[in-house]
Amino acid sequence: MPAIVIVGAQWGDEGKGKATDQLGHRVGHVVKFNGGNNAGHTVVVGGETYALHLLPSGILTPGVIPVIGNGVVVDLSVLFGEVDALRARGVDTSRLLLSANAHLIAPYNRVLDKTAERFLGSHRIGTTGRGIGPTYADKMNRLGIRVQDLFDEKILLQKVEGALELKNQVLAKVYNRRAVEPAEAVDELLGYADRVRPMVVDSSLLLEQALDAGSTVLLEAGQATLLDVDHGTYPFVTSSSATAGGACTGSGIPPTRIDRVAAILKAYTTRVGEGPFPTELLDAAGEHLRRTGREYGTTTGRPRRCGWFDAVIGRYAARVNGVTDFVLTKLDVLTGLDQVPVCVAYDVDGVRHDEMPMTQTDFHHAKPVLEQLPGWSEDISGARTIEDLPLNAQAYVRFVEAAVGRRVSVIGVGPDRAASIVVHDLL
Ligand code: GDP
Ligand code: IMO
Ligand code: MG
Repeated sequence: MPAIVIVGAQWGDEGKGKATDQLGHRVGHVVKFNGGNNAGHTVVVGGETYALHLLPSGILTPGVIPVIGNGVVVDLSVLFGEVDALRARGVDTSRLLLSANAHLIAPYNRVLDKTAERFLGSHRIGTTGRGIGPTYADKMNRLGIRVQDLFDEKILLQKVEGALELKNQVLAKVYNRRAVEPAEAVDELLGYADRVRPMVVDSSLLLEQALDAGSTVLLEAGQATLLDVDHGTYPFVTSSSATAGGACTGSGIPPTRIDRVAAILKAYTTRVGEGPFPTELLDAAGEHLRRTGREYGTTTGRPRRCGWFDAVIGRYAARVNGVTDFVLTKLDVLTGLDQVPVCVAYDVDGVRHDEMPMTQTDFHHAKPVLEQLPGWSEDISGARTIEDLPLNAQAYVRFVEAAVGRRVSVIGVGPDRAASIVVHDLL
């Protein structure tokens, strides 16, 4: 049975949570495969708003098995904070599973993330300060602490001591901060062991068996294509594989079992944190998008940087993710503009680029080549078929489709679970 991957096409916050939630009642498992509580996925169900960070968005659908895959970095205090908050609102979280191979965000990595950012000053990345980068760095350095280490106290202490050997030197001598006692970190982690134990699984085995048994598996990305550590706007990226390839390494499902890749694409562009952004608007038009689209971070509350739709990025996302379907979100936010500018290419020091420039330097110099599309003024939030949209809004969708080279299968016209036009079924 099918495995479908959902990724973000731009710099995050495209509406992955809503898209995942919408398919919830038709899938058996929803797997989060990368990132951690740097993500913020907002799902609106019948007037109730849920902000999910570490939990897969499938958690809100009764019957779905939500799985935190091996590619995720887990802050246990956040995990149980979210679980308890959902339970208090009547959501059943008892099916939640956690890969034994997922890495844990140790308390010292939260400190190091924030301290390193302060140290970088004007060269900072603008991270969410959740310890994501240092935890993935430990994983790659083979100094990481995994979920399974909670069940062997001796090994856990050895690993924490190993990780802190150098980190304590850096904390004390470079950052002028207090060194961390290994026992202190171990105690904090062990405090969660009993609650974690019943949730722990071999996620690769579980998902293979689920697919063999006919379950539909949805793999939900955090972050997005341009925040991917390999394919994003490095170094202004997150530290995980947020593109479709990451769905395989971060879950244990092989590429040969993936049937569909849906990329969520906002009808304009936003970015949180530092880094290049060719279509960014620093004027009233940007403020209009921010206000109308309520573009404030779900995780940090920071105002999101806003700009026009960028077709170069859309094409790039189609390529690196092998996108089969796009979900075009927040089309309703563009309502009321006389004309809607879209970026069709870049001008890099006088040379036209139709594809993402190869180098960071060229991307930093990219100026958008804009085309003006006619706008519409009718409220489209009630549209449920493509024909319900004003002709200019239909033309906008067709333009996007042609520019990114893949079909637009779903169109978002409002935050609620129901506010979408389904042109082609994603499953
Ligand atoms: P994610 O990180 O990709 O899951 O996206 P976020 O949840 O951080 O940000 C998307 C925001 O837009 C959320 O507040 C959603 O409720 C909202 N949203 C999603 N789709 C639509 C849409 O089609 N129209 C409008 N107006 N809001 C939407
Ligand atoms: P969702 O899943 C938008 C950005 C941060 C920063 C950079 C690195 O909601 O789309 P990190 O803490 O990951 O080391 O920060 O990545 N970032 C996001 N921006 N949406 C997200 O997630 C993000 N997760 C991280 O702002 O620029
Ligand atoms: Mg978000």
